[in-house]
Parts: sequence; structure tokens; C-alpha cells
Amino acid sequence: MIDPRPLEDVDAQVADLIRADVTRQNSHIHLIASENFVSRAVLEASGSVFTNKYAEGYPGRRYYEGCEVVDEVEILAKERAQALFGAEHANVQSHAGSQANLAAYFAFLEPGDKVLAMGFDQGGHLTHGLPVNASGELYDFVPYGVDPDTELIDMDEIRRLALVHRPKIVLAGYTAYSQVLDFEAFRSIADEVGALLMVDAAHFIGLVAGDAYPSPVPYADFVTGTTHKALRGPRGGLILSREEHAERIDKAVFPGMQGGGIFNQVAAKAVCFLEASTPEFRVYAKQIVLNARALANRLTAEGVRVVGGGTDNHMVLTDMRSIDEELTGKKGARLLNSVGITCNFNAVPFDPRRPFVGSGIRFGTPAMTTQGMKEPEADETAGLLAEVLRHRDDPVALEELEVRIRKLAGAFPAYPEGFPGHV
Ligand SMILES: Cc1ncc(COP(=O)(O)O)c(C=O)c1O
Repeated sequence: MIDPRPLEDVDAQVADLIRADVTRQNSHIHLIASENFVSRAVLEASGSVFTNKYAEGYPGRRYYEGCEVVDEVEILAKERAQALFGAEHANVQSHAGSQANLAAYFAFLEPGDKVLAMGFDQGGHLTHGLPVNASGELYDFVPYGVDPDTELIDMDEIRRLALVHRPKIVLAGYTAYSQVLDFEAFRSIADEVGALLMVDAAHFIGLVAGDAYPSPVPYADFVTGTTHKALRGPRGGLILSREEHAERIDKAVFPGMQGGGIFNQVAAKAVCFLEASTPEFRVYAKQIVLNARALANRLTAEGVRVVGGGTDNHMVLTDMRSIDEELTGKKGARLLNSVGITCNFNAVPFDPRRPFVGSGIRFGTPAMTTQGMKEPEADETAGLLAEVLRHRDDPVALEELEVRIRKLAGAFPAYPEGFPGHV
């Protein structure tokens, strides 16, 4: 029989851990560029009984019986994604962004085929050919980077590399880069060398949904993404494509990359696509960018160097060496977290340090914007975090700064009523 008792009564340890993380989430200013806070509706769908259903295959073509309802959920999620992004086809089954990327490669590449993508040490993702990742093991990634002087992507250099290497896929997309990509220029380079254009929009797909970033959909053959970053949905991946690629992509996701979809997450994706199609979401997405600019401006004014000179998206990559040559990203990020500002260390382009230490810290504004913060709070946050980094060896100053940070965070809790509907 199904145990009807609530989590608290069944497993007090896990219930306590959830409560502890609600407290952590409510008492920090959250500046991890890839994180966000989902709505109660997304949490409910994600915690729903769809977790019980096995449904390998696609609507109407399942390998299990009893899929009538999950078929409807998947169709709903797919149609909402297509409408939201103006895409001819959407696959909503990928368990995560990495799986979406690997499925896209699997759909169009043979082992050893060439892909031109942003290097990991320049702002690309590990699924863009890092040797320890399956992408790097299976395919021949040619990295491009940023210009050493401007720290911006140089389309002429990408074109030059494409002409030399003749890749099968040109990949546009990043995990640490603060500018808008020129999708039209990427398209024309791909066309010139007869390559497919793939855009990994994991980071900015939420901004695209809210009209705060140009859409890659009209230019790309296929676009991969995550639903859990700025898009403010459940953890998961998605692939948008032209109709001509639909069959190959669907086949690469299932049975190529995975078995059954995670249908509680697919249901939550459907909810997130609905939420992202509202006028409120467009206001939210634009505020994310305004907050990132306010953060970047104040950091610059405080003498913290912003890589690339500013931001046009939700992300601000900073160079700790502008505070102190000896200060690593890792040390700075640890310190900030200890006083209530959560962020992550990151390599900066041409970083002499190992990626596991890094000279930079990446800040992002999707979560703080969901917390309800606007430019004045972004400005204040940047001022506080610069002070923390400057006073890193002064425990008295740090204590005083922590009080101010906790006060600001406490005024904008993500979940003022605790873990909605559960603990
Ligand atoms: C550009 C890019 N692609 C793919 C991913 C992978 O997403 P996931 O962590 O869901 O596998 C990320 C995650 O940060 C990313 O930044």
C-alpha cells in the first residue's frame, strides 16, 4: 500500500535538508547565472504523480500502455515550446542541457566529425568538446575564442577557422560570455562552408522567450537549451529545430540518448512555457538584463574589471586580478558565499590559472530578479560584494557587511512561506 504519511514523518532527515535549503535560498542574494527560483506551479507539476509513468517513445508511438495522459502532456509542452519560440519542431524530452547537446551531435555527426565551437577556456560549455566530456572524446572539436584585446567574439576569425577546417557543425553558444551573438553572421559562415548551424541557447533561451535577446530560431538548423536557467522552469533540456530535422533529432533523443522521458519534468516544462509566454515574463526578462547592466556598471565603478567591458545579457564575468593579482576566483566566490552572496568562480579568457581555481567570478541576475530585486538592489549588491572582496582579510568589516547583505536578501526572500505546499 502507498504510505500516505508526509515526507516529514517518513524521512525527517531529508525533510530537514529541504528546510535547510529553503532557509539558504531565502537568506542569500543569488547570483549564479544558471540558477533561478521556480514558481509553485512548476514545483507542483515537477513533484506530481507523472513521476510514476514510463513512456518510452513519442505520443501515439509508445512502447508502454497507459500513456494516454502523458501523451497529452508531451503534446502540450511541445506545442507550447513551438509557439513560444516560433519553432517548427520541439523535442521536450531531453533530461538536461548536456543530453540535448549530445543528442544533437548524435543526430548529425559521425565519430571524428569536426565541430567549430567556443573553447571551454574561452567561455564555451564542457559539452562543446572538452576532452573529458563525451563530446570531446567522440568528435573533433575545433575551438574558437575571443579577441585578446576586446574579449569579444571575432566573427572574421570564426569565418577563417571555418574555411580552414570545414566543420560539419558550426556551434554558437556559451556558458560564460556577456554579449549578444550575431546569429545572422554565424548562419552565413555555416552556409559558406556547407555546415549546419547549431545554437546552444542554454543560458539565454529564457531571455529569448521574454524578447530580451535576439532569437536564434530563424537562423539555426537546431537550437538546444535548458529549461531551468533564465527560463525559470524545471531542470531539463529541450531542442528546437526546423521540421526537416525533426525526425533525426527525435530519433537521437530516443532511442539514441535515453529511455523514458521524465514526465513530471515534461509537465513542469509545459507549465514553464505557459508562464514564459505571459507579458509579465517579458517584463521579467528585460529586468534581468537591466539588473545585469546595473551590476556591471557598479562593479566597474568599484574597480572590479568586467570581462568584455560590460554586458548585454544576464551575466557579468569579472576578473579578480583587478582587485589583487593573488586573489583567485575560487577564494573570492567562497568568501562571498560565506557572507550571503552566492556565485561561482570561473576562468576568464586566457586565464593562467587552472579552471578549478580560475581568476574570475561569474555573476548572473535571473535569480535575484525573480527575488524581486531591481537596479537599485543590483547596484547595492555590486557595491557590497566589491567591499567584501576588498576587505577579505578584515573579519570585523566582513561581519558588518554580512549583516547588510543578509538584511537585503531577507527583504527579498524567494519562498517567504517556505517550501510551497510541502514541508
Ligand atoms: C551553454 C550550456 N550548454 C549546456 C549546458 C548543460 O546543461 P545541464 O547542466 O542541464 O546538462 C549548460 C549548463 O550550464 C550550458 O551553460
